[in-house]
Amino acid sequence: MTTRRTHDPPSDILVLGATGKTGRRLVARLRDTGTTPVRAASRSGEVTFDWTLPDTWEPALAGARAVYLVAPEDPSPIGAFVRQATASGVRRFVALSGHGIEQAGDDFGRGMAVGEEAVREPGVEWTVLRPNNFFQNFYEDLWLAPRAGRLALPIGETPEPFIDADDVAAVAAKVLTEDGHAGHTYELTDPRALTFAEATRTIAEAAGRPIRYGEITPAACRTELLAQGWPEPAADALNAMFALHRAGRTAKVTDDIHRVLGHAPADLEPWSRQVAARGTWAGRA
Ligand SMILES: NC(=O)c1ccc[n+]([C@@H]2O[C@H](COP(=O)([O-])OP(=O)(O)OC[C@H]3O[C@@H](n4cnc5c(N)ncnc54)[C@H](OP(=O)(O)O)[C@@H]3O)[C@@H](O)[C@H]2O)c1
Repeated sequence: MTTRRTHDPPSDILVLGATGKTGRRLVARLRDTGTTPVRAASRSGEVTFDWTLPDTWEPALAGARAVYLVAPEDPSPIGAFVRQATASGVRRFVALSGHGIEQAGDDFGRGMAVGEEAVREPGVEWTVLRPNNFFQNFYEDLWLAPRAGRLALPIGETPEPFIDADDVAAVAAKVLTEDGHAGHTYELTDPRALTFAEATRTIAEAAGRPIRYGEITPAACRTELLAQGWPEPAADALNAMFALHRAGRTAKVTDDIHRVLGHAPADLEPWSRQVAARGTWAGRA
């Protein structure tokens, strides 16, 4: 006769994208403030997780009760992963998506859109976070250009309510660990929207050096992205995202961050001064 092994009920929080802009801030925050074990997963993370290698999913999911889901660009594995996660004991999903995603076409954000749909299942607690562009894109990612003294995009004068990735992590930490957020889709924006020219000027003032924002056509932007080494599909997807911004689809502001956190989100001006003080924008990219 075989003896049935007893297992502890799943309790851990599995953070996907744990080396990324929101994921690593979320892991740090959960570990600082909570007692629930956190599994920090990505291809190069503490726990190995690769969307393209389903064999890595089961060990990453072992013991997890909640998942912070940072979807891959290619949406094909998402449904299978969510089913496997639910079968292995996950009862809460917090899916990272993007502001304005419901208005994106097929050229941009399919992973995020499919991620939202995949977690909206009966029998699980799901929450969708739709943040707008992060301040951190100005030094960790796409808009590194300020370090070279120039940022050129095809976005025009449309305002953007940029936000701090740390506020996204703070919202995610609350939603993962508190009750009362199931079934909600939070649009995470700053209450104040700035044009890219205004945001660049704010950063230039904080950095104490000239940084020029220039308007370029989508075709010129594509050429620049390819010259910077972006693969063609990524350059096209980015241009599709810039078209969303240009059309004002991500311009709407909300107070969802305030409602969840109980305080206003970070403001670009003081944030820029803090980041500039570290010498972030001092040299050439
Ligand atoms: N950046 C923004 O302003 C912004 C705003 C709104 C929404 N979003 C959305 O948020 C998501 C993340 O964007 P981000 O800018 O935060 O990206 P990011 O900082 O580059 O983080 C991406 C994360 O995904 C992991 N990853 C990449 N490929 C993977 C794979 N095949 N399997 C498992 N993990 C993988 C990376 O870690 P490894 O390399 O270690 O695998 C990293 O931890 C995207 O869906 C984006 O559209 C971003």
